[in-house]
Amino acid sequence: MITKGIILAGGTGTRLYPMTMAVSKQLLPVYDKPMIYYPLSIMMLAGIKDIFIITTPEDHMHFRNLLKDGSQWGISINYAIQDKPTGIPAAYTIAEGFLAGEGSAMMLGDNILYGANIAEPLIKACHNEKGATIFTYQTNEPERFGVINFDKDNKPSSIEEKPKNPKSNHAITGLYFFDERASKIARDLKPSARGETEITDMIKFYLEEGTMQHSPLGRGHFWLDAGTHASMLEASQFIAMIERHQRYKVGCIEEVAWRKGWISDQELHDMATGPLAKSGYGQYLESLITEKAG
Ligand code: G1P
Repeated sequence: MITKGIILAGGTGTRLYPMTMAVSKQLLPVYDKPMIYYPLSIMMLAGIKDIFIITTPEDHMHFRNLLKDGSQWGISINYAIQDKPTGIPAAYTIAEGFLAGEGSAMMLGDNILYGANIAEPLIKACHNEKGATIFTYQTNEPERFGVINFDKDNKPSSIEEKPKNPKSNHAITGLYFFDERASKIARDLKPSARGETEITDMIKFYLEEGTMQHSPLGRGHFWLDAGTHASMLEASQFIAMIERHQRYKVGCIEEVAWRKGWISDQELHDMATGPLAKSGYGQYLESLITEKAG
C-alpha cells in the first residue's frame, strides 16, 4: 500500500514571469486558495497522510508558514529544498531518505485535478505496489506535455516528452505513482537535450518492463497544468465557476481532512472561526458543520 506522497513545488517559474519573479507559482492563487492546496488535497483524497514538499531556497519559509507541519489537518508535512531545478525525477533523489525504500505518489505543484469520484482511481493506484501508475487526459495541446502513444490493440506502446508532431492527444498528467525503485531509476537517468532529466524517461522504464498501469481520466474529470498565464487564469475561472454554482469547494484541505475523520467537528469549527472567519472560506467550513448537524 502506498502511504507516502511528494509534491514538487520547486522550479524557477520562468514561464510565468513576471508573476513569479518574487514568489513561487505554487503559492499564487487559483481563485480562492493557493495553488498548492489542489495537489495537497488530491494526495489527501488518495488517503496519503505522509507528505514531502520540495520547494525553492527563496520560498521554503513561505510554504512552511502556510502549511506548517500538517498536524492541524491530521497529516504530516516535511520539507526539502531543491537548490536548482535539474528535472522532475530529481524529486526522487531528494526524497530518498523520506521514502525509506517505499513506493510513493508524486504530484506536480501546478497540476489541478477535479472530478466526480476522483478519489477512486487514486486509491486504486495506492494499492498497486509493483510498478507504476500514470494518469492520462485527452487534450487539445498535446505538444505541451508528455504524451503516450498506443499500438493497434490500444495498448500503450511509447512515450514522448513534448513531441513536435504528437501521434496521440493523450497527455500524461503530473500525477505519478512509482514503486520503491523510483529513486534508483531517477539517479541513473541521463539529461535530455534540454539539459534536464525527464519524468517521461522514468515512466518509459516501467512501460518497457511491462509494469506500467495506465489510468485514463475522462469525461467528468478536469485536469489542468497551470503553468502558463492563460492556463492559470483558466484554472481560476474554472474553480470560481464550480464553487459559485455548486455547494462545495474544490481543493479545500480542511474539508478533506474533516471528511476523512482526521480532524474533529470542533477542530474544523476552530479553524472556521479563527483566522479564516472573515473570508468566505471560513464561513464555508462552518457551513459544513451546520449541514452535518442538519
Ligand atoms: C511536466 C512533464 C510532462 C507532463 C507535465 C504535466 O511538464 O515533463 O511530461 O505532461 O508536466 O503537467 P512541464 O509542466 O514541467 O513542462
